[in-house]
Amino acid sequence: MVLIFNEMSAMNLIEWRDEFKIGIDEVDFEHQELIELINEIYDEAKTEGSILAVSDSLGDIFGKISAHFALEEKEMRELNYDQYEVHKEDHEQLLDSIRDIMDEYEEENNLDEEDFGNRLKDWFVNHFSTKDARLHKFLQH
Ligand SMILES: [Fe+2]
Ligand SMILES: [Fe+2]
Repeated sequence: MVLIFNEMSAMNLIEWRDEFKIGIDEVDFEHQELIELINEIYDEAKTEGSILAVSDSLGDIFGKISAHFALEEKEMRELNYDQYEVHKEDHEQLLDSIRDIMDEYEEENNLDEEDFGNRLKDWFVNHFSTKDARLHKFLQH
């Protein structure tokens, strides 16, 4: 069995950054919590250092993210939010790409941590500042 991590051991999978903020405290807090949770899950898997732990942690990360999305989608449906479809589609895209990473990991027992972290980070920067910012400003009114 081969287990390869890039040498980023002391670092979080994703660092919280100001670019993630949308300017509504509760939402920023929620997003920050989500990212902390992802880092914790990931850290634990690395400490355990087994293939199973990493597979499980990818599954858990997927679960936390999709729970956050499900909540937002529920809010949008309840409000007949005009951008529901596009917003949901963007959520699906991230979930699909995590699924791809999970499949890849199952096949190759190899996870490019830097690439995974970057993909998540890029998606969050973009999604938070556009789709989530619009939704939560809408919800405030
Ligand atoms: Fe969100
Ligand atoms: Fe969202």
